[in-house]
Amino acid sequence: MCGIVGYIGTQAATDILLAGLEKLEYRGYDSAGIATVWEGEVNCVRAKGKLHNLRSKLEQIETPAQIGIGHTRWATHGKPEEYNAHPHMDTAKRVAVVQNGIIENYRELREELKGKGHQFVSETDTEVIPHLIAEFLKNLPPSSSSSPLLEAIRQAVNRLHGAFALAVISADYPDELIVVRQQAPLVIGFGQGELFCASDTPAIVSYTRAVLPLENGEIARLTPLGVEIYNFAGDRLKKQPRLLNFNPAMVEKQGFKHFMLKEIHEQPGVVRASLEAYFNPAESTESPINLGLPADLYTDLEQIQIVACGTSWHAALIGKYLLEQLAGISTQVHYASEYRYAASPVTANTLIIGVTQSGETADTLAALAMEKERRQGKEPKYQARLLGITNRPESSLGHLVPHIISTLAGIEIGVAATKTFTAQLMAFYALALDLAARRQTVSKDILEKIINGLRQIPKEIEATLESQERLTEQLAHEFAETKDFIFVGRGINFPIALEGALKLKEISYIHAEGYPAGEMKHGPIALLDAKVPVVAIAIPGSVYEKVISNAQEAKARDSRLIGVTPVKDGEAGEIFNDLLPVSDVEELLSPILTVVPLQLLAYHIAARRGLDVDQPRNLAKSVTVE
Ligand code: M6R
Repeated sequence: MCGIVGYIGTQAATDILLAGLEKLEYRGYDSAGIATVWEGEVNCVRAKGKLHNLRSKLEQIETPAQIGIGHTRWATHGKPEEYNAHPHMDTAKRVAVVQNGIIENYRELREELKGKGHQFVSETDTEVIPHLIAEFLKNLPPSSSSSPLLEAIRQAVNRLHGAFALAVISADYPDELIVVRQQAPLVIGFGQGELFCASDTPAIVSYTRAVLPLENGEIARLTPLGVEIYNFAGDRLKKQPRLLNFNPAMVEKQGFKHFMLKEIHEQPGVVRASLEAYFNPAESTESPINLGLPADLYTDLEQIQIVACGTSWHAALIGKYLLEQLAGISTQVHYASEYRYAASPVTANTLIIGVTQSGETADTLAALAMEKERRQGKEPKYQARLLGITNRPESSLGHLVPHIISTLAGIEIGVAATKTFTAQLMAFYALALDLAARRQTVSKDILEKIINGLRQIPKEIEATLESQERLTEQLAHEFAETKDFIFVGRGINFPIALEGALKLKEISYIHAEGYPAGEMKHGPIALLDAKVPVVAIAIPGSVYEKVISNAQEAKARDSRLIGVTPVKDGEAGEIFNDLLPVSDVEELLSPILTVVPLQLLAYHIAARRGLDVDQPRNLAKSVTVE
């Protein structure tokens, strides 16, 4: 949440900061601002709303400043107004700060600083930081430090409680850009005679691939001479940048109207990449699954606890189904935000899995950190049994857990998760099959059959995409003004009902709920009438007839029925008012297909309503605050 960028070098900073913020807008878009140092002053320009508002303001201001910081905000403390926009400054306007995170003790600091004559002009937690730095700067004994700014910031961050990443500049130290990381991401980029910093790599990859992600509790001083890194105690640390493997084309729309639509269409490629990475070729004599995880991670495993949020939580529910049904391991799925305050009892033979595409979701990280801590001091088996599933292995999650399954979706820009969900499902298929193979809970033939089925999925998604574009667009035309939607599914497709409802809610702002179809009659069916359409996912297999009966019950209450189902015979056409046909694949593999029409339906409804599909209101791609 919130994106920060910084630049120090020989080019005009403003353009570089704006270009960086554009790539970070997915992290929040309530307001944006930049501050540069030029002619002994901090020049700060901020605007409410999206980045183009800031861009328009900056058109009238030309500054050749070669140092600056920028911010795109997802409001936590204080309304999304210009006076709350970052950068924030101290009373004398000599120090400017951008922050991503939350300062938990800001009230107490604010009162303390007010008592010392500091004047505050915003409602934010961040504003205490420049004031605190200014206060420490004022009180530093003369020539006590080679970099007074660094020292004042070091003292200030030691007073802050919470999770934060900072970038700081000062009119009095025009050759220093100081950055800090404490449980919020911050990466430094090394260019030719220039240095960058950002919350995420897309903001800097067009300039450099040489990056150094800071670790928690680190401060870096960026100057024309290079980078110095320290811990919060002030000890100098030695670190080397590494080269990033990144394709800039991934952060372009490539002819699609929105990133979300492009990302939906990338799903066949994501499944192909996952098949190639996680499974050995059919003719191989080795184990069919290759996740690169150590065998002792699985030894004597008794149960699995999964923590996740949002769409990742839905993927985890499908993971639970696969792990229990294929590998016979009891699995619980928890909202990370709940688990961190009410964890299940810890045992040596429990594997904990954190699922987060960004690898930066605060609740998921906190749940895993808590789990890691309570396993500390126990035998090694406890400590090893932490696994992350993420699309960003270089993220905070990557530093937190000993084992990672990298999902292979490529960077996802649309705030609504689509291809990363599919990639997470592929990771769970591979994990469940790996466990099933090692525990011998399924025969070799069945294993082979499932893997062969997975190999057919990319072309089935392609066929679905081709047939569904027009159908979902037509339905969107009819449902664009609908107020409520219900999605139902059962078994392995119940989480797809939840995901379909979440997609619709978050980008179209239409109220939608997902239910296990059998639960409808226990209450929610009271909501149904001719104005409430019901989308039913009905895939031949263990619960097909049950879902069809539940759909009939909805139809009897006048709901218009939309079926996500294979059209094999005339039956589907008779039951459903509208059809979103999918190929007739094994029920066990069907979620990777059934989610596609629901993503498209949500997309086309939102686009039809003229909404900002890629940056829906109130949301941010990485939820880095609790
Ligand atoms: O990065 P994460 O997978 O941890 O993100 C979790 C949720 O914030 C995320 O899935 C969110 O629900 C998306 N907006 C869903 O489309």
